[in-house]
Amino acid sequence: MQPILIVQGGAGDITDSRVPGKLTGIKNSIRIGIKILENGGSALDAVEQAVRSMELDENFNTGYGACLNTDGVAEVEASIMEGKNLKAGCVTLLHDIMHPISVARKVMEKTNHTFIGGEQAMNFARSQNFEVLPQGSLVTENAKLALEEFKESQAKGLDTIFSPTELDKKSVGELGETVGAVAIDVNGNIAVATSTGGITGKIPGRIGDTPILGCGTYADNEIGGVSTTGHGETIMRYNLAQRILQGIALKGVSSQKATEDTIKEMTQRLIGTAGAITIDKKGDVGIYFSSKRMAWAYTQGNQLIYGINPGEILKEDL
Ligand code: GLY
Repeated sequence: MQPILIVQGGAGDITDSRVPGKLTGIKNSIRIGIKILENGGSALDAVEQAVRSMELDENFNTGYGACLNTDGVAEVEASIMEGKNLKAGCVTLLHDIMHPISVARKVMEKTNHTFIGGEQAMNFARSQNFEVLPQGSLVTENAKLALEEFKESQAKGLDTIFSPTELDKKSVGELGETVGAVAIDVNGNIAVATSTGGITGKIPGRIGDTPILGCGTYADNEIGGVSTTGHGETIMRYNLAQRILQGIALKGVSSQKATEDTIKEMTQRLIGTAGAITIDKKGDVGIYFSSKRMAWAYTQGNQLIYGINPGEILKEDL
């Protein structure tokens, strides 16, 4: 089977000035991941490494550069899943850990559990020799600025995060630029990895869609894999990843149609915006977002195919 990797760098109201950084980062991520698959590596390794590169890059909302909660802390969360045995690992409420996706993988591989959160997840990370960085190491100037702007808008009575209404539509679209990767390897194994800092100005302890299976991440070799991004409160209420896969499994539609139709239906019903990347068991890809922008990329032969604006498909040599 021809291996495929697709990555996304977050759906949201990405300003023009942030576009070049997102595109450079997404191309870097896909190049790292596809090399693993082309050398016969596993889908699991490819998605983990693709996401790790975005966790290191401040252009993305996870790891270094993650959104801040109201206390100014970057609380990060992640999930990883492999579609052969439906094994998964999820973590939430980690702080000062650069690679939440790798902690999630350790939960999957080294424990009898699927989801660990909070200070016990920090202890688990320590037990697996993850470095706990000095307090505040993931916090960037841009993230601090975004929190200041959020607090100013709240002071003006514009709190829009938790209960979007028609009037709030634009603000909701600015939130939740989670990153993710979906791959199918030469053996037909599918894996998905998703990692995030959540949303700016979240209440400390708030958990989003990203570490929740069926919402932020899902992989099943018998159907496909999905990684989602966008407004977590909306995505988790809609079970977005699972609904996209059910579109493929039950309606028999293509990855693209299932991804597009499901996101459109979600935004129509719940207003919040999102994006998703999908690969079905045949290796067909689906990409869609209802937000203003979402950086995405995949490869075909020696071509890198990518975009960030609605309807945009750009190509260059890998
Ligand atoms: N999708 C990221 C979040 O809202 O937590």
